[in-house]
Parts: sequence; structure tokens; C-alpha cells
Amino acid sequence: MHWRGGRSAPCPPAFGLLLDLRRTPTPPEHQHSCECGYRPKTDATTLCRMLWIKAFHIVFIASWFAGLFYLPRIFVNLAMVPAGSDAERARLLLMARKLLRFTTLLAVPALGLGLYLWVGYGIGMGPGSGWMHAKLALVLLVIGYHHGCSVLLRRLETGSNQRSHVFYRWFNEIPVLLLTAIVILVVVKPF
Ligand code: HEM
Repeated sequence: MHWRGGRSAPCPPAFGLLLDLRRTPTPPEHQHSCECGYRPKTDATTLCRMLWIKAFHIVFIASWFAGLFYLPRIFVNLAMVPAGSDAERARLLLMARKLLRFTTLLAVPALGLGLYLWVGYGIGMGPGSGWMHAKLALVLLVIGYHHGCSVLLRRLETGSNQRSHVFYRWFNEIPVLLLTAIVILVVVKPF
């Protein structure tokens, strides 16, 4: 049995998985013998569950980032609203508020499922997991960016925004760089 491909049994249905997230005991022949505390679980059911969880982790991550990419685009438009265009400003602010709320809701399962893969399955724990530590550091920056968006939105709402649309255009590139680095870390695992 391999972590990627080569499955010998079909995966259980998704709802069964969601209702039963208990760990499957690792058969003795698969138990890791070193003293590092890392116990990979590689039986077929555990592998299938892990793949389902990873799939939904990626879906929620993609949705979360869709919000993180679009929100600063609204800020660009808000910073360009001509003085006196109150209706346009109010509409953009409403869009931004709703998008921020929805994006925050999406971040919770994205992070929770990632945490489950890490702590529940031990992926990225033990020796050779430098990529995971680097990823977690970048995830903290993504959370900081998300928080930064809410601070900037509050300033735009109260009329205390000092930033130009050029600033928001550059600000918009930060999640692109973070996502690129994180995906390279989890896929290539360079260290
Ligand atoms: C900005 C946030 C995050 C992004 C963009 C992200 C992205 C990804 C992607 C694309 C994968 C699939 C990699 C693959 O299967 O080849 C993945 C897997 C994984 N993620 Fe995340 N993730 C994020 C947050 C987290 C968090 C907060 C944790 C843990 C606390 C986490 C733990 C994991 C683990 C353990 C895997 C499995 C890696 C493997 O199978 O080799 N992720 N993540």
C-alpha cells in the first residue's frame, strides 16, 4: 500500500467518513519501530480517509484564497471612488463586508482539516519535516494577512483610509506569493 495511488480497496463513501473520524488502529506489521514517536497509519481505510480529508482541505483552502484574492480588489475600487459617489462606496463596502465574513467562515474548515492531517495522521511530524514547519510559519502570515484585510476594511468604512489604489494593488500580490510558497513546500517538500 502506497500513500499515492495503487489502492487495493475502494474508498468509503464521503458521508460515512464525515460521521466517523475515529482513528483506525495501525496493524502491528505497519507500526514504525523507531523511538521518535512518529506512528504513520497506512492501512487502506486510514489511507482513504486521509485522502478525503486532504481533498476537502484543498477545496476549503482554494475557496479561502479566492476571498483573499478578491477582497483587496474591492479595496482598489474603494480607493478609486470619486468624492461624493456615496451609493457606489456603500455598495462596495457592503460587498467587502459580506466577502470578508464568508472568507473567514471558509478559513475555519481549511485550517481545521489541515490541523487534522498534521496531528491526527502525523503527516509532517517527525524527522524530515522541515517543510511542515516552514509551511506553518507561512500559514501564520496568511492568517495575519487575513486579519490585515479586516483592519483595512474597518479604516475604509470609517473614512480613515490613507492608502491609494496603488498600495492595494501591491497588497493584493502578497497572498499570491504566500500560496505559491506553501504549495511548493507541501508538494516538493524540499527539506
Ligand atoms: C494557507 C494555508 C494552507 C494552504 C495553502 C495549504 C495547502 C495544502 C495543499 C495544497 C496540500 C496538498 C499537498 C499534497 O497532497 O501534495 C496540503 C496538504 C496538507 N496540509 Fe495544508 N495548507 C494550509 C494550511 C494547513 C495547516 C494550518 C495545516 C496544519 C496545521 C496543514 C497541514 C497539511 C498536511 C499535514 C497536509 C498533507 C501533506 C502531505 O500529504 O504530504 N495545512 N495543504
